[in-house]
Amino acid sequence: MTASAPRRVAHDVLQAVGESDAYANLLLPAAIDRAGLSTADAALATELTYGTLRRRGTYDAVIAIAADRPVQDIDSSVIDALRLGVHQLLSTRVASHAAVHESVELVRGTGRGASGFVNAVLRRISRDTPGDWMTRVEQSARSDDERLGLMFSHPVWIVRAFRRALAAEGRADELEALLTADNASPRVTMAALPGLAEVPGDARRTPFSPFGFRLAGGDPESLVTGSEGRVRVQDEGSQLAALALTRAEPVRPGERWLDLCAGPGGKTAVLAAEALAGGASLEANEVSPARAGLVRRAIAGVPIDVPVSEEDGRVRAADQPGAYDRILVDAPCTGLGALRRRPEARWRKSPADVPSLTELQTELLTAAIVALRPGGIVAYVTCSPHLAETAGVVAEVRRGFGGAIEELDAREVVRSIATTDPRLPDQSDGSGRAQLWPHRHNTDAMSISLLRKV
Ligand SMILES: C[S@@+](CC[C@H](N)C(=O)[O-])C[C@H]1O[C@@H](n2cnc3c(N)ncnc32)[C@H](O)[C@@H]1O
Repeated sequence: MTASAPRRVAHDVLQAVGESDAYANLLLPAAIDRAGLSTADAALATELTYGTLRRRGTYDAVIAIAADRPVQDIDSSVIDALRLGVHQLLSTRVASHAAVHESVELVRGTGRGASGFVNAVLRRISRDTPGDWMTRVEQSARSDDERLGLMFSHPVWIVRAFRRALAAEGRADELEALLTADNASPRVTMAALPGLAEVPGDARRTPFSPFGFRLAGGDPESLVTGSEGRVRVQDEGSQLAALALTRAEPVRPGERWLDLCAGPGGKTAVLAAEALAGGASLEANEVSPARAGLVRRAIAGVPIDVPVSEEDGRVRAADQPGAYDRILVDAPCTGLGALRRRPEARWRKSPADVPSLTELQTELLTAAIVALRPGGIVAYVTCSPHLAETAGVVAEVRRGFGGAIEELDAREVVRSIATTDPRLPDQSDGSGRAQLWPHRHNTDAMSISLLRKV
């Protein structure tokens, strides 16, 4: 007997994600198609893949205890079969014997002793309850951050970064709620571009963005296709970030706007709709040609001409000093704010990525300020709450420009746009930065700062 098709698909995707930089959300639909899975089997393969990827940190700690060896010493095909087995044993209702048997079948024939090893480790795990295993994992931690990292399946450096970012708002006690929110799949959030599409009558409006909604049922993709992109899948935090720039103050007809890091173009589409409504013009830039192509597709349904350049944003902006009234710098970042939507992302980044990113972010924001006309506004946005990428970059750039820029109160701007008060607290550095959170706002953890050139 061989492993069932959904488990085989999940195992193949876990292997591909581990061996390359591939994204599960791109690989999985193709693997499901290739295997010809029914709707029910596709749902099972999806749950197994995403659940296993998200909870990998916890499962690896369980496996290390049960196998009495570090997981790094276990062959990659075997460890992925074990992780899938542990997921089924500890987090699903799959019968124990089936969970063990399926994982044994996944490694049959792959190497000497692999199936015997998987059988022994999973049988050992199946003898105790999930609660027993969580207690053992908890007891194996050497610090509180490590404990949280193991229990909630986050690398310790991310736990620390979240702790600091929440502490900057006096809300360090929300850390467990945040880590929990990262482990739940978010419901699909959509946007009806302002002035160009209507929120469907049977949809539920989101609490903050004036044009955000969630479908009660039905297929989001068919709605997007049928609307020529005027209805889009878009996180509510992203909608607010784009609006924070366009609605920070009334638009004067003839204003020139620039979206400096635009790919794949979600916020560009909102900016385009807002530019159309206010009589402004919009240009977009994206360094990656493939992603610039996505930007062009994203704005195809908005009846306004948006030239898209494919340059390094630092050069693109510095070449046009004093040219723009509003600029969006939605900077490349660690993406720590979107972990719930990208199940493998937390294992891909490392603290070593942060310094080079903050250097690039500082240079992009500096160049954007050079490209602003006096009185113009830049929105500096990251999909990360990491203080080095958010408050740190803004502080560094403000130091560089001295009194030539002032920070606006982005929290007040977001509050004025939102249909419900998002209750954004003061930041300990006294800045006007607005920070959204998955556990509090059900959005990605977007950080929004607004700076004016004076
Ligand atoms: C966070 S994403 C932008 C998301 C986009 N605003 C949206 O809402 O769909 C950052 C983008 O910056 C691009 N990028 C990275 N380095 C850049 C650079 N030096 N100049 C311009 N764009 C850059 C990346 O390719 C990526 O597409």
